[in-house]
Amino acid sequence: MPSIRTRLDRFLIEKEHLNNREVRLLLAQKRIIIDGTNAHSMNQAVHKYTKIQIDQKIIQNNRPCYIKLYKPKGIVSATKDSKHKTVIDLLTASESKDLHIAGRLDFNSTGLILLTNDGRWSRKLSSPESDIEKRYHVTVDKPISQKVIDSFNTGIYFAFENITTRPALLIIKDEYSAEVILKEGKYHQIKRMFGHFQIEVLNLHRLSIGPIELDHDLHEGESKHLSPEEIDSVLKE
Ligand code: URA
Repeated sequence: MPSIRTRLDRFLIEKEHLNNREVRLLLAQKRIIIDGTNAHSMNQAVHKYTKIQIDQKIIQNNRPCYIKLYKPKGIVSATKDSKHKTVIDLLTASESKDLHIAGRLDFNSTGLILLTNDGRWSRKLSSPESDIEKRYHVTVDKPISQKVIDSFNTGIYFAFENITTRPALLIIKDEYSAEVILKEGKYHQIKRMFGHFQIEVLNLHRLSIGPIELDHDLHEGESKHLSPEEIDSVLKE
C-alpha cells in the first residue's frame, strides 16, 4: 500500500477481495477495528501505518522505520548488488525489511545515510521545495582558490544534464579541505563541481542531511534508529 491515504472500503476491497456489500456489513456489525477502535465509516481515511483488523485477524500492521547509518568506503548505496556489500547488508535482517535509501553516497564516499520504509518522509527529504541542506567534508588534491568558492556560489553548468547547479556554499577549512553545503544531489555532484577546476576529490564524507547529524558516537558501519525529534524535524523543514 502506498504511504498516501486511501478510503477504508477501497483498501479492504483491494486487499481482502471483498465486495462493497460485504464491507458495509462488516462495518455495521462493528467487526472492523482501526488502530484499536471500531471503524466508523466506509470512507474513513487509512494509510500505510494504520493498524487494520477484522475481528482478531490483522489485515495490516506496518511500523514506520527510520535509520541513520555511518557508511564506510567500499559499500554500495543500494538495496541489492551482485558484486559488493550494500548498506542494507550492514543492518540486521529484521531491521532491513522494505527499507529504501533517502539520498545515496558514492561507493568511496563515507558518512551519513538515511534509510526508511516511509515514502512520504523520504520524498520530503529529496523534494527541491524542502530546500534541505546536505553538509559534506571534502579533502582535495590542490589548493582551493577564491574563484572556486565564487563559482560554487553562483552555480556550475553541467552540460550532460544541461543544468546549472543551485548555489552551494564552500567553506575553506585549510588549504586542502573544506565543507560543502548543497541543496540538491545530482550524480557525483561534488566531484564534478571540483572536476570543473581540475581538482580531484580525495575524500568525501557526509556530515548531515537537514537537521539530522551523523552522531560522533556512531562508528563506521554502525547504525541506529532516529529519535522521534529527528523524524519530526524533517517534516517541519
Ligand atoms: N557528491 C559526490 O560527488 N559524491 C557523493 O557521494 C555525494 C555528493
